[in-house]
Amino acid sequence: MATFLVTGSFGQVGSDLIPQLCKKYGKSSVIATDKYLPHADMPCEMQVVDVTDYKSILEISRERGVDCIIHLASILSALGEKNNDLAFSVNFTGTYNVLKVARELSMKMVIIPSTIGVFGADTPRENVPAITLTRPASIYGISKVFAEQISSYFSKKYGIDVRGLRLPGLISYSMPPSNGTTDYAVDMIIHAAKHKQYTCYLKENATLPMMYMPDAIKAILDIMSADRERLRYNLEYNVQAFSFSPKDLENELQKYLPDFRVSYVPDYRQEIAETWPRSLDISESIVDWNFNPSYDFSGMVRDMYEHLSMGDMGNE
Ligand code: SER
Repeated sequence: MATFLVTGSFGQVGSDLIPQLCKKYGKSSVIATDKYLPHADMPCEMQVVDVTDYKSILEISRERGVDCIIHLASILSALGEKNNDLAFSVNFTGTYNVLKVARELSMKMVIIPSTIGVFGADTPRENVPAITLTRPASIYGISKVFAEQISSYFSKKYGIDVRGLRLPGLISYSMPPSNGTTDYAVDMIIHAAKHKQYTCYLKENATLPMMYMPDAIKAILDIMSADRERLRYNLEYNVQAFSFSPKDLENELQKYLPDFRVSYVPDYRQEIAETWPRSLDISESIVDWNFNPSYDFSGMVRDMYEHLSMGDMGNE
């Protein structure tokens, strides 16, 4: 039985992953950590761990016999542009610290999500393959190219089984939006359900790859249990379920709320979105570890709308 330590447990992905991890592997196998502990309950033990502090990760991992770190702590694209130093310490130093601890303690596995943010203005826009130019424009993207490269390096040089996948924009109702560029989508759905009006910081035609959170959680659990022999990459697996633009989402929401209106006032996040692809080639994720998302665009909007109408939104 493995012991998992999860960093950044109370962010958007962690809040939904931790309960599923506990369900699959047992509550006593999971240690949920973050820089601060939330007021909300978690189904497992919670500890304060600052990923920028190597010793803080090492000590708890050694003490508790951790053999897999799931490294979710990350500063997303929009906040990273506002605070380069914070992004550097969490995303670069934090990732390096996690891999060093895994090497020091000869861990079985490390999971590190990557992102569509690794792509840049000179990446093709449509059906982007896993291996392509990755010259991003944001510090978040640069930090995740670093994560991809250093993971391959640690995997080859030290034999650590580092796995991950490039997450697209994720839509979920458990947490409010958290400083990404794609978070307008969650924000727009919340505003549709509550305020009938929304001001979008991207242009109406800014199409981006996206996925509903239950499919992202399933994808993370699936790649964790995939046969290593079948995995040709470490973190470079593209995943997405659908692509849509802000206008597509506005139109879909108007099916439920005909009076809902969006105005478009693009800001610096539009510049980030313009360097990201509109769609990804996910074929290698399907072949290597059976990636198989179940929600389509309208199914995701329906489910989100239903949950938000019932008042399901963490911290709100
Ligand atoms: N959701 C991320 C962001 O917008 C991209 O992976 O920063």
